[in-house]
Amino acid sequence: MTFIGRRRWASAGVVVATAVATAGIALSAPSAGAAPGCRVDYTANNWGGGGFGGKVKITNLGDAVSSWTLKFTFPGSQKVSQGWSANWSQSGADVTATSMSWNGNLGTGGSTEIGFNGSYTGSTNTDPASFSLNGTVCTGQQPPTSTTTTTTGNPPNPGNRVDNPYSGAKVYVNADWSAKANAEPGGSRIANQPTGVWMDRIAAINGTTGARGLAAHLDDAVRQAAGSPLVIQLVIYNLPGRDCAALASNGELKADEINRYKTEYIDPIAAILARPAYASLRIVTVVEIDSLPNLVTNVTPRPTFTPQCDVMKANGNYIAGVGYALAKLGAVPNVYNYLDVGHHGWLGWDDNFGPSAELLFQAANAQGSTKANVHGFIANTANYGILKEPYFKIDDNINGEVVREKAKWVDWNRYIDELGYAQAFRQRAVQAGFDAGVGMLIDTSRNGWGGAARPTGPGPRTTADAFVNGGRLDRRIHLGNWCNQSGAGIGERPKAAPESGIDAYVWIKPPGESDGASKEIPNNEGKGFDRMCDPTYTGNARNGNSMSGALADAPLAGHWFSAQFQELMRNAYPAL
Ligand code: BGC
Repeated sequence: MTFIGRRRWASAGVVVATAVATAGIALSAPSAGAAPGCRVDYTANNWGGGGFGGKVKITNLGDAVSSWTLKFTFPGSQKVSQGWSANWSQSGADVTATSMSWNGNLGTGGSTEIGFNGSYTGSTNTDPASFSLNGTVCTGQQPPTSTTTTTTGNPPNPGNRVDNPYSGAKVYVNADWSAKANAEPGGSRIANQPTGVWMDRIAAINGTTGARGLAAHLDDAVRQAAGSPLVIQLVIYNLPGRDCAALASNGELKADEINRYKTEYIDPIAAILARPAYASLRIVTVVEIDSLPNLVTNVTPRPTFTPQCDVMKANGNYIAGVGYALAKLGAVPNVYNYLDVGHHGWLGWDDNFGPSAELLFQAANAQGSTKANVHGFIANTANYGILKEPYFKIDDNINGEVVREKAKWVDWNRYIDELGYAQAFRQRAVQAGFDAGVGMLIDTSRNGWGGAARPTGPGPRTTADAFVNGGRLDRRIHLGNWCNQSGAGIGERPKAAPESGIDAYVWIKPPGESDGASKEIPNNEGKGFDRMCDPTYTGNARNGNSMSGALADAPLAGHWFSAQFQELMRNAYPAL
């Protein structure tokens, strides 16, 4: 990959690193209902190799407008390769960005932020000298000594967060997981990779047998940081009535125990994270997988409904819990909340995609939270969705059969892989009201699909089914299969800013930890037996009544599963 883009931006009020050039161009102070006027704050963030990200904050200082057109001219060879939050076009050096339906309204003093990824040749990337909005030139100068962006019109940022916490940072290696990985033959090849630390029950806060507690992890993280920026990845996973559409990871809190969730789980975690000793860490929290999307996809009248998801929708405790977690954790200035957005095999259909983004926005504004508490989203947590399907597209036409409509594997899904899904979800979330700067994470711990069965080219162009099934890298029996998948491999190694809009590839599900037991195993963790983890199961409405594709002899969810660890290493892609 030669063109690497980063799509998160510092919120207003954040000190911009010295490597970032800032051009501030302002008209005089705003006056309500005055003649047309505008201010544009333009920031170019160079990331080497001739690539850069452009952030453009537009502030309307004149009468309210319901749509706008921004124009500027690049002084050099710069080219916009991809833009967001506006319709971008470029002719020669002249760039035009017009408003979208959702950000055209700008009252007096109102502002909006748009952005793009661009490229330039040569050694300098000089900022445009002038901008116009609806034909009016935005003029004026920022104080020449300033390296901060202005805060006009935006709520104060509670912290000093950077745009992409993974950029220029180490990522915490969980020594508890490393020890298990290292004890496996060949495991040392991946044992030093950073993985997620799961707070999967109240007891995990203080530590359980074989797993240190939260403060001990954070102490170790400070040691690993040794003065450099370091990200530690925590999974917040203990909602009341957890995982309502499956049984394998049901948790300890009953559907109505929202108060225990707040006082015995979130409050103590937030208190520990807020300790001054941890202020220099970048604490990434993956907030509540297996929750909100269930309220869209697995409730009455869908054929996929479960009674438990109906209960969680009716009692509102998923929304309340997520809102509370975001508010409490987001109040800690060095916490970066990433909200779970499932994966393309769950929310990639049109009737799930938009409604999920809207529901997430509702939760982000519940229980005293605001959207400012959401730094981004994470896709594919603990799932197996391939990062990129290179050998087919949804609109391929095979002998008159369009893949999206006729290939059973796709079955009208709008997306075929996690990268496409994550990038599109980011945009849809912004449309739902989230900040334009939100970034995505993708869990690549187990979506490699390498090994001997990996196709090396497209399938036969006979039928849409043959074409897709012959060429797809994701070798699952059905896209809805999620438990201990046979044939899966370790995916992309953790990496910062790998693609446009993506803050990082991460390993949140620690490879080798089971998704669920393949038969009933009594336990005191609240874990049930889900037949999707039983290799003999013939399926249900959520996986098209297909075989589960699960490995045999699996232990309880979260417990060490040596055979799976070995299989994941064997099928790693890129190979180990
Ligand atoms: C389990 C958790 C575990 C996590 C990571 C989940 O499926 O329910 O107990 O910590 O996976 O392995």
